Amino acid sequence: MKILAIGDVVGRRAIEYLSEKLRKTASSLGADLVVCNGENASEIHGLSLRDAEALLDCGVDLITLGNHAFGSRDIYGYLDDNTDCIIRPANYPAACPGVGYTTVEVSGLRILCMNLSGTAFMDPLDNPFTVADRILDRERGDYDIALLDFHAEATSEKLAMGYHLDGRVNIVFGTHTHVPTADTRVLPKGTGYVTDLGMTGPVNGILGTDAQAVLTKMRTHMPARFTVADGPIEAQGVVFTLEDTKPYRCLKVERVTF
Ligand SMILES: [Fe+2]
Repeated sequence: MKILAIGDVVGRRAIEYLSEKLRKTASSLGADLVVCNGENASEIHGLSLRDAEALLDCGVDLITLGNHAFGSRDIYGYLDDNTDCIIRPANYPAACPGVGYTTVEVSGLRILCMNLSGTAFMDPLDNPFTVADRILDRERGDYDIALLDFHAEATSEKLAMGYHLDGRVNIVFGTHTHVPTADTRVLPKGTGYVTDLGMTGPVNGILGTDAQAVLTKMRTHMPARFTVADGPIEAQGVVFTLEDTKPYRCLKVERVTF
């Protein structure tokens, strides 16, 4: 079993890029499931209904979100109606649209896919560690493999989540910071882990955003309108290879750029 996780898609051009490249890449890697964080796809601040459908058309099987999950109002109904292919962080209040986890079936195996937001330097949501435990308790016996997109700012919080779930969840990857980290590895009890997948977006910007606007804000503290950077796009992600038999421990965690 191979699962390809693609880093945060930044801007509409990045979706177009994936529409050209993703299916071919996923097939050459032998990916059985493609998960992609889409929360910045609609020009940084959210994901619109149109762009969610476009991402799925690129060959993404499951979209995960984060702190911009509700940035585009037209996605709300879609989040409620399409819980098999799009999830938002599970530690938002229950009144928010959508769900925080879903189970998809791939090659006869039930894959529990979870999305959580960090709380260090981010919104004060429910404790992601206890929410993860609660989901695993609730779903016990109803899944074969589990994965988590932990959308968080602090490397320490992401790594702590990796160890918290080591041996209980097969894959834990981080998103949100848009910079690919060099710590792909299998944790001691068999969980495939990486602190951040990176992003899919323009390489010549600051986290996908036009550098000049970010610099203006940082140098002057004046408001600046952030737009998606111009120039070449790159897709960054990680392929997790799992054992073919129970308990489906992770064997390999490999970085992919295309
Ligand atoms: Fe984010």
